[in-house]
Amino acid sequence: MRRLPLVESRSAVYEDWPARPDDFNTIPLLHDSRGRRYTYLRLSVTDRCDLACVYCMPPGGEDEHAVRDDLLTFEEAARLISVFAMAGIRRVRFTGGEPLVRKDIVRLVEIVHRRTAVEQLVMTTNATRLAELARPLRDAGLHGVNISIDTLDADRFASITRGGDLGRVLAGIHAALHVGLEVKLNTVPLRGRNDDELGRIVDFAWSLGATPRFIELMPLGEGAKLPSSMRMNADDVLRFLGDRVHSEPPTAVEGQGPARYMPASNGSAHRVGFITPISNEFCDTCNRVRVTAKGDIRACLASRRAISLRNIMRAGGSDLDLAWAMVWSLSGKDRGHHFLEPHEHEHERVGMSLIGG
Ligand code: GTP
Ligand code: 5AD
Ligand code: SF4
Repeated sequence: MRRLPLVESRSAVYEDWPARPDDFNTIPLLHDSRGRRYTYLRLSVTDRCDLACVYCMPPGGEDEHAVRDDLLTFEEAARLISVFAMAGIRRVRFTGGEPLVRKDIVRLVEIVHRRTAVEQLVMTTNATRLAELARPLRDAGLHGVNISIDTLDADRFASITRGGDLGRVLAGIHAALHVGLEVKLNTVPLRGRNDDELGRIVDFAWSLGATPRFIELMPLGEGAKLPSSMRMNADDVLRFLGDRVHSEPPTAVEGQGPARYMPASNGSAHRVGFITPISNEFCDTCNRVRVTAKGDIRACLASRRAISLRNIMRAGGSDLDLAWAMVWSLSGKDRGHHFLEPHEHEHERVGMSLIGG
């Protein structure tokens, strides 16, 4: 059976790091006590979504949404990103919920692009509003979008997303490609729901010039309520892809996210990505830090500790205060995520739509 490469060191990513500051009046670079350094911020801009995918949102949405005053304001979000940039963050991914339901999102992308040292701005979206927003986002400085699409069948799409319109998502994908955004398609393979379509999704993505990626279902929030028989790992997915991908995968981790890519077997430049938090954990090389829509910093999808950067700002904290709170929140980060182990504090874990994936 074809095996995915093991995750290797990501040390190349850190080569351009400035030397560590040696006094406490300098913004510290983000690192944890296990030596991992953080260059990639996932910032959720809303906990709301216009869809409710079965593995992500409860039917009808989360019971409790953050009230408006709880959310980071535009100015707070922009300030936080600029402090993160000073602390070594090079890439920012806007997430949600669904980031495009936030009205000031294009302006936020633009100001972060123009005013901070962040090198790359990207977004994860369900694409329902992308047909209208792809061009303004590209013009504002967005580099690329990861788009969730689990099926190419309109009825199944409506069922998995609880009411979503596949046509709008397809229009969003086309618009993004048309304006020159880099596009990756995220599919969560679910046995019995979309497994018979996985090869077709790869062909579809490749035909457009997009990169398909398969994400193992994570037992978090709604994902934990689905029967474990629905979970598919990367080997299961590969069996459905036939001879589309090469049997000799590369051994390196590409890019800055957790995905590993296998090349197409037909000699083209196409590839398929796999995100394997369950079958091949990638926590050793984690370079990501998360901020929720309410401004809580979380060191990991699975971590229980959350510190409110919003409260520090609202209490008049300085940029340095914020940066040290960021370092402190990362300091005790666990080696791994322990998703599959019974969790003493299960109720303290929050679902994907609240953390931003
Ligand atoms: P790229 O930078 O384009 O590779 O993006 P990404 O894969 O990091 O981002 P995206 O929002 O598309 O996430 C795809 C899936 O990977 C989602 O299900 C995320 O929750 C998951 N993911 C991203 N980072 C991590 C991580 O650090 N740990 C775990 N367990 N999952 C992650
Ligand atoms: N397991 C795996 N992926 C998930 N996503 C949302 N919830 C889960 C889960 N429980 C994915 C979405 C989207 C990305 C941000 O996270 O499909 O592509
Ligand atoms: Fe919305 Fe994305 Fe969650 Fe689906 S996976 S409900 S599109 S936030």
